[in-house]
Amino acid sequence: MAGVVGAGLLLSGFAFADTAKEVEKLAKQYGCSGCHAVDKVVAGPPYRVIAKEYKGKPNAKETLVKSILGGSMMKWQAKAKKYKIKIKMAYMPAQHGVNKEKAEKIVDLILKLDTK
Ligand code: HEC
Repeated sequence: MAGVVGAGLLLSGFAFADTAKEVEKLAKQYGCSGCHAVDKVVAGPPYRVIAKEYKGKPNAKETLVKSILGGSMMKWQAKAKKYKIKIKMAYMPAQHGVNKEKAEKIVDLILKLDTK
């Protein structure tokens, strides 16, 4: 029993150390990869830039989960200028492929991305 718990902790330790890979994996699984990657613009903002923008802000998680579930429009036009990136789409449609739990899971990981 103790062994099982130990292995679990070890595994979650790895996931934390390699957050970027974990985000890419979930994004692929959840159908986000067509528009997002961790470090480059696909159609929408890179996850690391999203992390930069929202890390430490109050309600960051709630805001992002809401955008994923309900869609987001024109929010990133000004932010893109700030980060000197070129977003290729003005809106993200509501992501019906994920529920609240999945959206929270990927947002937690996005906000954990190293932004230094
Ligand atoms: C069809 C393309 C597309 C898909 C698919 C897509 N996104 Fe987006 N996403 C965008 C665009 C474009 C924006 C910028 C929207 C804006 O300017 O308001 C965005 C913005 C975001 C943001 C920032 C929202 C905010 O409030 O600032 C997050 C987080 C995000 N996407 C996560 C995801 C996740 C997770 C998935 C998969 C479940 C996903 N996206 C799928 C295009 C997409």
